[in-house]
Amino acid sequence: MNKHMERISQIGIVPVVKIMAKEDALPLAQALYNGGLDVAEITFRSEHAKYAIQTIHQALPDMLVGAGTVLSVEQAQEAVDAGAAFIVSPGFNEKVVAWCIDHDIDVYPGVSSASEVELAMSYGLKVLKFFPAQSSGGAKKIKDFSGPYQELSFMPTGGINMNNMHEYLSLPNVSAIGGSFMLPNDLVNAKDWDGIEALCKEAVKHMLDYQL
Ligand code: 3PG
Repeated sequence: MNKHMERISQIGIVPVVKIMAKEDALPLAQALYNGGLDVAEITFRSEHAKYAIQTIHQALPDMLVGAGTVLSVEQAQEAVDAGAAFIVSPGFNEKVVAWCIDHDIDVYPGVSSASEVELAMSYGLKVLKFFPAQSSGGAKKIKDFSGPYQELSFMPTGGINMNNMHEYLSLPNVSAIGGSFMLPNDLVNAKDWDGIEALCKEAVKHMLDYQL
């Protein structure tokens, strides 16, 4: 477990991607990569998730590709067969978590309450997605989790953008943030890959500026 967490936290920002057209998979991933974000969480919110994971994994071997919005063991299996290096889910799905642990696959299930955090701890998990971040109490709640749950860290997603990302990234118990703010629908629909690359660069710059 957590074989890829060090790399994810070094990158710092995980793009959450919904592939609406098959042919977008590669140019979109390439734009993220060129923009400095060599990781992607490809969500099972579209029928092209498996195809996209496989295509990106094969064509861009330096990119770390995971699967998001994994709601069933079947989807987890499909994602891993396609080459996904990690599994993310919006909530705490015990079947998905148990399957990933059994198959030695990194899994970052979503939690937003103390009870869910403790359920995750009972599975031995150390890094959890915090979702939906902004509407579940935001950075303040993650900070509050650091009191009782000192060994855990979080990957918040949901409502994070250029303006609030630093609130999360400044917390010692945040490993990375996730979101779709660097790939807004209008740019994806227009297949504006240069625009997405530019937004990724801006996000990386923002993150580094804040760390200085
Ligand atoms: C997720 O599944 O992680 C979120 O839906 C991403 O949230 P965002 O689109 O608000 O960034």
